[in-house]
Amino acid sequence: MNTLIRNGTVVTALENKRADVLIEGERIAEVRAGIPEASADKVIDATGMYVIPGGIDVHTHLDMPFGGSQSSDDFETGTRAAAFGGTTSIVDFAIQARGTRMRDALDTWWKKAEGRACIDYGLHMIVTDLGASGLEDMDEMVDEGVASFKLFMAYPNVLMVDDATIFKALARTAKNGALICMHAENGSVIDVIIARALAEGKTAPIYHALTRPVRAESEAVHRAIALAEIAGAPVYIVHLSSEDALNEVREARDRGVPAFAETCPQYLLLSIEELERPNFEGAKYVFTPPLRPKKHLLKLWDGLRNDHLQVVSTDHCPFCFEDQKSLGKDDFTKIPNGGPGIENRLQLIHHHGVNSGKLSLNRFVELTSTTPARIFGMYPKKGEIAPGSDADLVVWDPSAVHTISAQTHHMRVDYSMFEGFECRGNARTVLSRGEVIVDGGRFLGKPGRGQYLKRTARGGAWK
Ligand code: URP
Ligand code: ZN
Ligand code: ZN
Repeated sequence: MNTLIRNGTVVTALENKRADVLIEGERIAEVRAGIPEASADKVIDATGMYVIPGGIDVHTHLDMPFGGSQSSDDFETGTRAAAFGGTTSIVDFAIQARGTRMRDALDTWWKKAEGRACIDYGLHMIVTDLGASGLEDMDEMVDEGVASFKLFMAYPNVLMVDDATIFKALARTAKNGALICMHAENGSVIDVIIARALAEGKTAPIYHALTRPVRAESEAVHRAIALAEIAGAPVYIVHLSSEDALNEVREARDRGVPAFAETCPQYLLLSIEELERPNFEGAKYVFTPPLRPKKHLLKLWDGLRNDHLQVVSTDHCPFCFEDQKSLGKDDFTKIPNGGPGIENRLQLIHHHGVNSGKLSLNRFVELTSTTPARIFGMYPKKGEIAPGSDADLVVWDPSAVHTISAQTHHMRVDYSMFEGFECRGNARTVLSRGEVIVDGGRFLGKPGRGQYLKRTARGGAWK
């Protein structure tokens, strides 16, 4: 079937132009003004709209066991919510259980997604243990399209690995072309500070943030980059939250080091005061790294504008307030860490970035789609509007006003971190591989239609 998107303004990372987009089957066939309607079976009118590449969220945790709980969105509910917000690809995280092979984790996560994913999905592998065969496992994962690995410098005894393991993994990627994604916080030091706080009876949600100082993040970012330099590999810092950490990335990049970093809407728009909400509601904002004092927010926006930060992801890791966050009522360390956001990323970055003049439209597309595709080995199949690319497209209505609320969102979680935020600009029609999966607030896709994305090594971080 051929579909024609007519009369829109095509917006890519590089340019805006009045053009029609002809889709043949699952791919884009032509992008130019004046494509005749007769060449299509179906015509979508995009007058007054932008046509942008589908959003790519490279940091999500669907159906993930964590902190004695399970993230509340699975691959069906999470990817459907993503689609409503204009995201057409995600990269989620499989977790290698200590003492097991990475292949086991990959099989487990494929099963979680099978029959459920509504949009295309890739997987990173969280490495917890290199053991006897871990380095070979990493090569095997790369062959399977798992072109990136996440390592934790935080959460001792759960996910944290030591510097030797980090260095070995980085050195392996120097050979196999994968990318190490680093959760950069000094977990050992944080654990000492947490023990001290608990001993003093400090158990409320705010202590989650107060026990994770900014310097614990920037020190870890500094170390991660130093280890990557010694290993001769690029490194990608996930969920960067503070000016101090950003300065470490910027300093390295200024020296020509291939260091990359993402931040998330919560770090751009929310601050530490949220954790002081009464009636335990601060728990809704417990995730790591924590929210920071307000002065950091503008610095992160500057970082996005000046390419010191390259990607906006969500770190979508939802836990319901009523029956999951409440596990930590008497002890903040028992609050499952994570917050929901997969549905709202484009709305929030468009409104607070583009509408407020902080970002150009092209930078918005670059941060939310094109660069994630490049860095994570999906480009130009994803993240681009050009002949041959997958027809993952969003007809974006720049004047649609939408108020974010748990009452109306599609994520399976009983609160929103952005409750009441009014955004101008929203996805009207969303196509995934040529199929309209969302139109005017209705979901038209099917669970299970999303395909596994076999990503290639030596992506954009290696150029
Ligand atoms: O609190 C968070 N960020 N939860 C998800 C796991 C992680 O560290 O990304
Ligand atoms: Zn993390
Ligand atoms: Zn995460």
